[in-house]
Amino acid sequence: RDLPPTKVWGYNGQYPGPTFHVWRHLPVHVLWKNELPERHFLPIDTTVHGAEKDKPEVRTVVHLHGGVTPDTSDGYPEAWFTRDFQKVGHHFTNRLYTYPNHQPATNLWYHDHAMGITRLNIYAGLAGMYIIHDREEIRLNLPCGRFDIPLIIQDRSFYKDGRLFYPQEPDKPATVPHPSVAPEFFGDTILVNGKVWPYVHVEPRRYRFRILNGSNTRFYRFSLSNGASFIQIGTDQGLLETPILVPSLVLAPAERADVIVDFSTCYGESIVLRNDYETQGKKPDPETTGSVIQFRVIDSLASQDESSIPVRLAHVPKLNHYREFRTLRLNMREDSFGRNIHLLDDRLWSDPISETPKLGQTEIWNLINETQATHPIHLHLVRFQIFDRQPFDRDVFEKEGRIVPTGPRVPPALNERGWKDTVRARPGEITRIIIPFSPYPGLFVWHCHILEHEDYEMMRPYIVI
Ligand code: C2O
Ligand code: CU
Ligand code: CU
Repeated sequence: RDLPPTKVWGYNGQYPGPTFHVWRHLPVHVLWKNELPERHFLPIDTTVHGAEKDKPEVRTVVHLHGGVTPDTSDGYPEAWFTRDFQKVGHHFTNRLYTYPNHQPATNLWYHDHAMGITRLNIYAGLAGMYIIHDREEIRLNLPCGRFDIPLIIQDRSFYKDGRLFYPQEPDKPATVPHPSVAPEFFGDTILVNGKVWPYVHVEPRRYRFRILNGSNTRFYRFSLSNGASFIQIGTDQGLLETPILVPSLVLAPAERADVIVDFSTCYGESIVLRNDYETQGKKPDPETTGSVIQFRVIDSLASQDESSIPVRLAHVPKLNHYREFRTLRLNMREDSFGRNIHLLDDRLWSDPISETPKLGQTEIWNLINETQATHPIHLHLVRFQIFDRQPFDRDVFEKEGRIVPTGPRVPPALNERGWKDTVRARPGEITRIIIPFSPYPGLFVWHCHILEHEDYEMMRPYIVI
């Protein structure tokens, strides 16, 4: 269908931002410059956290999500800067970032992380992919080149004139001293790589898709309309040990999946990537948010498909030794406007730092989800593994503060048994993750990756000492 053009923000004039392809162990230096226009294109007031009304400059800072990066280049939320650097938010505001790239091949993404307005800046377009390659992976001979396609999946809503729509909280004037954060955002239109419900011609052969959920709040459960399974080869932080056949694939905001889809027997078919994750108690409409992208399989191959999918992809050592064990609540509290907000361990961003893991030590974090929502919890700097999940008795917990499990510890699904940087913590469950804190000491953050939660107030600093 025809839509009027939409003004968005981007990196180097592109939305999504240009895809980085980097090699393991080859550091990359990026000078991030803020050339964003004044902020009038979103129908919301992004003047928050003390910015003056008459100086409508946009604050930004860039974070490489999943990157093992020293804190001075990590995009600390308060390390934002404005267009003319009249204002900087933090003492280590430095815009020449170094990404060491010492981690194994994986799919990362970079996005805005400015304090209190991340949801708006990312919504406006500030996100892109960052792919690390290495020799071990090249040797596997997976589909590559034209047959290796990143898919950044986001939901948006539009006004009839093409402008992006984002809800403003109706009953709060924008002048109140807190961000007028809508509790969640679900767009009615799905975009893939910045395009509304696109299609792509594919040859009847194997393709690799690096799928990123770059949405603000929306979760997806993907499946293929021809009933075929995905062959999942990687998670957030690189390759799984072996390929896993999955008929459907759930991705929370910021999670990634690396999959192979085999179209070799699908001559002439049109295959839809579907989504049936229930949001707000409803299955998505197959005509709108239930469809993501269409693959139109052409009849012939330009050349023989010589790719392979080895049964052994990588070695993922299983972590089970740890020094420290922390219990952290994911909870709700009423704010001063009488609204329920989500918190990490009942603390606000401005409360004193409470998590100070030691450099080189491994910890288990027990995330006790007392809320009604699944929260994708993300830590900067590290990659971790999911240890297990276990349901607990909410009533006993509310009355007596004791954690009484009501079922067995459930190991992660086969396709979650790899390195992760974002984990789905489901309501009424204890989610245990095991985290080696290395290789850099410093000041980082951990947060829920539902951007509306992250901005208000589900984000906390932590220090590796
Ligand atoms: Cu995807 Cu703190 O970030
Ligand atoms: Cu991150
Ligand atoms: Cu959340």
